[in-house]
Amino acid sequence: MTSTILVTGAASGIGAALGERLVSRGDDVIGWDIRPGAHERVRYDVVDLTDPAAITVAAASLPDRVDGIANVAGVPGTFPAQRVLEVNVLGPPRVVDAVIDRVPPGGAVVNVASLAAARNTVPSEGVAALRAAHDAADVAAWLADCPLDGSAAYDTSKRALVEYSTLLTAELLGRGVRVVTVSPGPVETPILVDFVATMGKDAIDRSGAAVGRHGSADEVAAAVAFALSPEASWVNGIEILVDGGLSALRAAAALARPALARPKGAAR
Ligand code: NAI
Repeated sequence: MTSTILVTGAASGIGAALGERLVSRGDDVIGWDIRPGAHERVRYDVVDLTDPAAITVAAASLPDRVDGIANVAGVPGTFPAQRVLEVNVLGPPRVVDAVIDRVPPGGAVVNVASLAAARNTVPSEGVAALRAAHDAADVAAWLADCPLDGSAAYDTSKRALVEYSTLLTAELLGRGVRVVTVSPGPVETPILVDFVATMGKDAIDRSGAAVGRHGSADEVAAAVAFALSPEASWVNGIEILVDGGLSALRAAAALARPALARPKGAAR
């Protein structure tokens, strides 16, 4: 039976590569984006994820069965913090809430977060308060308490998304619907220039040099497509890092650092 997959952010970058991959394996793909994409076999609905009414209207025109939801849309820290949080934090739960009743047992939700989640500096209570936001006014009130620039808001938005995925896994387990987070390192897509602007060219270049290059949109799409597929039937509630080994390199460097101040006589 043909699967139907809803992909947000389908017009560009990772979402566009995912649409192409899914179509070529025989899935029906519906793309939600603020602009239409270019793949002739993807059905594009123009939906701004900051507009709950637009999501409701678009959801009403979906087929009765949607086997997978890929929350790929996101905006970088070059946008104002309010916009970053509205798209990246409010967007995925809005999409899931509007569509989940169409997802049958065996279906999956995949949320695309980022390694940037690890750069978040907002304490866990603050992130929890952000996750509780339902609308633009809640986000504005949260930002009044916790002022962030766009770049820091991006990092926090991805931390909140990783946590949302974990909570959603627990919520959907009884329905037989899986939830997977895919967190890329730097990827060659139009958004990368924004990351150079917000995180600094040196930092992005260093990441690329450490693992030899940046990832491609299709390499991330491959992981998302796997996580959505029946082959991933026992893969649930985890975060898949798609970063060419960058996180492992950082962890290895920390592990290799000599232990400080070993107490005298302590066992090695
Ligand atoms: P991209 O800019 O090529 O694609 C993002 C898509 O989201 C665009 O088509 C855009 O129109 C859409 N979008 C933005 N705001 C929207 C809204 N309000 N409603 C509906 N659609 C909206 O960027 P890319 O790289 O494909 O990003 C995809 C996801 O991957 C994002 O969530 C991003 O944060 C994440 N990511 C990207 C990395 C990279 O280096 N490219 C690294 C880590 C995570």
